[in-house]
Amino acid sequence: MTAQDRLDQLFDYLRFASISTDSQHTKDTRDCAEWLVAKFQKMGMSVDLHPTPGHPIVVAKNEHKAGRPTVLIYGHYDVQPVDPVELWDSPPFEPTVRDGVIFARGSTDNKGQNLAHILGVEQSLMEDGDVPVNLTFLIEGEEEIGSPNLDPFLEANRELLKCDVVAVSDTGMVAPGVPTLTYGLRGIACLEFKLTGPFVDLHSGIYGGAVANPAMVAAQIAASLSDAKTGRVLVDGFYDAVQPLQDWEKETWSRLPDADQEMFEQTGVPQLFGETGFDSYERRWARPTIEVNGIGGGYQGEGSKTVIPKEAMVKLSCRLVPDQDPDEIQKLVASHLRKHCPESVKMEIEPGHSGHSYVMDPNTGYGLAAQKALRATFDADPMLIREGGSIPIIQSFKDVLGVDTLMLGLALPDCMAHAPNENFPIENFEAGVRMNRALLKELAK
Ligand code: BES
Ligand code: ZN
Repeated sequence: MTAQDRLDQLFDYLRFASISTDSQHTKDTRDCAEWLVAKFQKMGMSVDLHPTPGHPIVVAKNEHKAGRPTVLIYGHYDVQPVDPVELWDSPPFEPTVRDGVIFARGSTDNKGQNLAHILGVEQSLMEDGDVPVNLTFLIEGEEEIGSPNLDPFLEANRELLKCDVVAVSDTGMVAPGVPTLTYGLRGIACLEFKLTGPFVDLHSGIYGGAVANPAMVAAQIAASLSDAKTGRVLVDGFYDAVQPLQDWEKETWSRLPDADQEMFEQTGVPQLFGETGFDSYERRWARPTIEVNGIGGGYQGEGSKTVIPKEAMVKLSCRLVPDQDPDEIQKLVASHLRKHCPESVKMEIEPGHSGHSYVMDPNTGYGLAAQKALRATFDADPMLIREGGSIPIIQSFKDVLGVDTLMLGLALPDCMAHAPNENFPIENFEAGVRMNRALLKELAK
């Protein structure tokens, strides 16, 4: 199979608008899962499409034989929404190559990365007749909405998914060509609140000053969540379980290239901002945060409209670090919100999805094997990092299946995951195919 054949297949995979959060795309998401099923069948693997109350889960296996370790490769075929679509330079579901880089929603997160593993396995099957391990692919369609049906699936299918280690490529590389093993991720806890005031929007001249304004109160409550100067979260008990960075991590991270300038340029912000006393790596990978992800209420149209809106809403998420418990954090934040809510408005709090943070030791057993595979693939020493994003199912692999997860990322810092112009270099895609083969070889030893 040529590099062009592999690219053609990635393009086919990327053309499915498998946006898991949007029910208008339920059929596209299912078609995408069925494309994977057909792909595994063509490769001669046994494959099943498992229905769930949401999007289906694809499980594929080679023939498992006694005396070999079992490796589970996890990935997701769902993608994030594409809006604002007008900011894309080419349509998000019509993959386009510019300067050796593929532009499409899902190119990096996560179709390009998981297809590289699939095609690596296909190549081994064609050239060697088998891969050197017992292999299970688990590819789900709900990662971007918090994997609501995967936890129950793990619990119900322990025997089917039994393995010695999990491998995932859904994280990043610190720079192009620099192999990177991610040994930790932040967890997440989402919630939203809605404030209701008067029955209807009111004239702010007639009632303003005598009736509380829900949009104003929402802004005040949101502002009470963190200190504007120090960036500290002001929710009581929020930091109680937080573990400090270990010395070896401090030492390793201090050798990473300074990424502040790059981040400054990539984001276009007037100035970087974060918790006092920590550098940007610590702030993003090892410190917890609270963020407003959405805030609304009142007149959003052109010009002015003098009105007291009847309601307002705020969507929040916290990124969590070891040993913060997502349920506990949701409770602490909810009680902060209630405490700061005046009696002049009604508050409703809705908890959202959540997931645990994850940290493993990268310098034992399978972690060392992964480092060897990365070194062999990229011909350079791998960097050991944590990252700030979340893949909630990874701690569940530990809790339910009792195994660690090796995260060998292929995403570049400017991949624009979740944003317009998401992209993935062909070079990284091809490296991923080679990396899969090197990894399975090392894990078999
Ligand atoms: N690939 C990301 C996770 C990620 C992002 C890892 C950045 C390392 C660095 C994944 O697809 C993702 O976006 N996860 C969501 C999870 C959430 C919806 C539960 C996230 O982190 O927002
Ligand atoms: Zn994502």
